[in-house]
Amino acid sequence: MRVLIPQDQLQARVDELAGEIARDYEGTRPVLICVLKGAIFFMADLARRLCFDLELEFMAVSSYGASTESSGVVRILKDLDTDIDGRHILIVEDIIDSGLTLQYLSRSLMSRNPASLEIVTLLSKPGRRIAELPCKYTGFEIENEFVVGYGLDYSEKHRNLPYIGVIDDLD
Ligand code: IMP
Ligand code: MG
Repeated sequence: MRVLIPQDQLQARVDELAGEIARDYEGTRPVLICVLKGAIFFMADLARRLCFDLELEFMAVSSYGASTESSGVVRILKDLDTDIDGRHILIVEDIIDSGLTLQYLSRSLMSRNPASLEIVTLLSKPGRRIAELPCKYTGFEIENEFVVGYGLDYSEKHRNLPYIGVIDDLD
């Protein structure tokens, strides 16, 4: 395992993102929507740095088809517990790869008439993007490597690493 982003850099960047989000959302009582499972640590670290009223929601989605490539056809496995009509929504994601999953999710959420909808992602692989996806806050742009840790998995392993790592030989 090679360390790509060490723990202290992750935490420093989450601090910065929280600062930007606080400036933009304080007083609006936003709904932060964590996309399970990969975004759990990012959501927890981000949300505890936001010292104003907000709500936390969780969604689980799964792509049909091959497990390493997103198909763009997404099934909602766990939906929101709340009505988001008129609310300010911030989707909290671990990583945007093709963008297909979030494109589908954003469209589904937009059809519920939120007051606004934005995305914060910890990681982005711009070189892999297929879907046009406006993402307001990005933690780190990375190369086209498969990364794990800080919530991200390879076959459900390595989510509990406190840093972002690269497995050089995937098997
Ligand atoms: P997209 O629809 O191609 O943008 O897929 C995004 C989803 O694929 C993310 O939310 C992750 O669950 C998963 N994913 C994409 N790249 C990686 C990676 O490098 N490591 C772990 N999971 C990844
Ligand atoms: Mg994910």
